[in-house]
Amino acid sequence: MSKKLPENFKKMKKRILSGMRPTGKLHLGHLVGALKNWSQLQQEYECLFMVADWHALMSEYKDPGYIKEYVIDNAIDWLSCGIDPEKSTLFVQSQIPEHLELFMIFSCMTPLGWLERCPTYKEQLRELKTREVNNYAFLGYPVLQAADILLYKAEVVPVGEDQLPHLELTRKIAERFNYLLKKNVFPGPQAKLTKFPRLLGLDGRKMSKSYDNYIGLSDSAEVIRKKVMGMFTDPQRVRKTDPGRPEVCNLCSYYKIFAGSEMIQEVEKQCQGAEIGCTDCKRRLGDVLVDYLAPIHSKREELLKNKSRIEEILESGKVKAKQIADKTMNEVKNAVGL
Ligand code: TRP
Ligand code: SF4
Repeated sequence: MSKKLPENFKKMKKRILSGMRPTGKLHLGHLVGALKNWSQLQQEYECLFMVADWHALMSEYKDPGYIKEYVIDNAIDWLSCGIDPEKSTLFVQSQIPEHLELFMIFSCMTPLGWLERCPTYKEQLRELKTREVNNYAFLGYPVLQAADILLYKAEVVPVGEDQLPHLELTRKIAERFNYLLKKNVFPGPQAKLTKFPRLLGLDGRKMSKSYDNYIGLSDSAEVIRKKVMGMFTDPQRVRKTDPGRPEVCNLCSYYKIFAGSEMIQEVEKQCQGAEIGCTDCKRRLGDVLVDYLAPIHSKREELLKNKSRIEEILESGKVKAKQIADKTMNEVKNAVGL
């Protein structure tokens, strides 16, 4: 007898939630570090992707006017990079007030020490010199993130390595809630790290808006080519006749991600054999990146012509997210007794 799939098969897919803070334009680092991964996961999981505008406000509260612009701009980039609204739910955090309700309840149950000891908090206080993040809300950043994840009972959370402490806290908060109220409301979510190699910025540091060392997903072909020409290469290769070391050259890691395997081998060989100069190599990488981004750019153009479509997508995402959120909050309120 053939086994029929149960009718609620779709519901049996594991649920994923992930998000990004809308604090600027997206760049290749976001594509490689998150979006490529997200779009692949859509096949296998039930996915919710959230624009975390409240999290953005925690650091951008002095000049919050542009957050909304980036909410739309980032959503356009997500869609251009293959996030499919037919398969996944895209929504904006601040449109679901239940995130804050759950955040409040979790805040009551989270010992202060957990947050003060959180390595990302300590690091941001040290490093975010351009923003004042010694505010009350910022300490609770991971508590809001826990609420984001647990409101949807997400089992899997695709994130970068830097977010692992937040996932650890999310599990601790879920456990503490279940333990204190003697109800098994929340699952402990697992982090899912991206399998793509990390992409460094043009200067070899972490790719970041604040270092101005990025290639934007919406940069024009001209800008992309110009930025590539300014990239750092193997510092020991001074003359064209010096053999290069592709394994230490930042360009080579770009080729490895964005070019086909034949071209990668060719570049490595020509570099080691001093058959190609770095200027030519950069020109070629410029072409590779322009070609790679071309379909993303044309999708973007198309979406920009039809902004009401973006609003529709976010609105229907909101409706779907809200349904799940309401259900969880019912259980939470029952458990808490309020
Ligand atoms: N803190 C995440 C980041 O900076 C963004 C984020 C907010 C998030 N809420 C989330 C990521 C929930 C995953 C799940 O990248
Ligand atoms: Fe880097 Fe290319 Fe120059 Fe080799 S030839 S050092 S890979 S830029």
